Amino acid sequence: MTTTATRPGSGRSRAAIMAKTLRTDRWWLPPLITFVGLAAWVTYATVRVFMHKWFFVEDYHYLTPFYSPCLTDRCPSEAALFGTPLPSFWLIPEAAFTLPFLLLFRLTCYYYRKAYYRAFWLSPPACAVPDGHSKYSGETRFPLIFQNAHRYAFYAAVIISVINTWDAIIAFHSPGGGFGFGLGNVILVGNVVMLWAYTLSCHSCRHIAGGRLKHFSKHPVRYRFWTFVSKLNTRHMQLAWITLGTLALTDFYVMAVSADWFSDLRFVG
Ligand code: FES
Repeated sequence: MTTTATRPGSGRSRAAIMAKTLRTDRWWLPPLITFVGLAAWVTYATVRVFMHKWFFVEDYHYLTPFYSPCLTDRCPSEAALFGTPLPSFWLIPEAAFTLPFLLLFRLTCYYYRKAYYRAFWLSPPACAVPDGHSKYSGETRFPLIFQNAHRYAFYAAVIISVINTWDAIIAFHSPGGGFGFGLGNVILVGNVVMLWAYTLSCHSCRHIAGGRLKHFSKHPVRYRFWTFVSKLNTRHMQLAWITLGTLALTDFYVMAVSADWFSDLRFVG
């Protein structure tokens, strides 16, 4: 049922709608799926990060991305690219220096913001559905103003992607030394490729590549990079979910081989 009301100060009238929402479709389904998906992933990742075992396959040098770079006393020397400066206290993750930045990168990501504002904070849960909160200050005040630091988290994510790439390269290792190649390598490399695609598709990356330019014609290299990033950027949401999948799959595979639940399928070495 609708009547007409005047918006304060606007001089214009708009429909005063008594119903909470006039949407009759299943608008609640996408936020529900997002909630279940993100909650499941965060639960799995938290359990794994604090498990402190089954993170490295010594024979093949497979290191799960959740433990990279490995920095505590628990890390075998082959997995400790930067030494082991941290003690083995259970509250300290092996990748204590990188996980906070990765968390910040995803938390401040433009796509994830939309996803968790809708699914967790109901702010709002969907288009044309009222906000679950009476007040709304957007991202203009503490603490959400820090969402604007996303660009700096992006810089950190680039460095971490380089480390993940190196992990994938040195995992071409056979138990006897020298070159080796197995299904684990396919999974590790696939994960790294997807991580780069997600990282480079970032909105901040797109702005860094082509923002504030007056004439693309005078910056052909930046223009080409911006064009490439722009194409990736249209798939940012998909890449955000795909990388959650590849990260979990990579971690699970390394855990399973490390725990001897099954053996790595070897092609060479
Ligand atoms: Fe999603 Fe930057 S906008 S990672």
